Amino acid sequence: MKSLTFIRNKSLLVAVTAALAVPVALAGDPPPQYAASCGACHAVGVAGAPATGDVDAWAPRLEKGMDALVASVRNGLNAMPPGGLCNSCSDEDYAALITYMATAQ
Ligand code: HEC
Repeated sequence: MKSLTFIRNKSLLVAVTAALAVPVALAGDPPPQYAASCGACHAVGVAGAPATGDVDAWAPRLEKGMDALVASVRNGLNAMPPGGLCNSCSDEDYAALITYMATAQ
């Protein structure tokens, strides 16, 4: 009887833990730098910027390869200023931001 109670409690704990883990695992959370930098233009596609979540707009960009896209952000591209308003971003940060923006939200 006692061990049955233990098993029930344990499976409840597993269920609660799994439920709590879901929001953390959601893919749609933007990287921390997004709102103050890239999002200013890419959220709605200012001046021809491929809009966040617009997979079709990003597809031809992604064909250039991630290294080329990171270089575009570092150097600037037409209306996009060098660094894309995030001068403290590393190349890995840029890659994460690009992947976020190029993914359907
Ligand atoms: C001031 C507005 C602005 C900001 C801020 C901005 N972008 Fe852009 N971005 C643009 C525009 C406009 C384009 C389209 C440029 C073109 O092809 O003429 C663009 C294009 C791009 C491209 C495609 C480059 C290519 O080679 O095709 C990438 C990748 C990109 N942005 C990433 C970012 C990232 C990452 C950030 C944040 C760190 C960012 N952008 C911030 C305006 C902006």
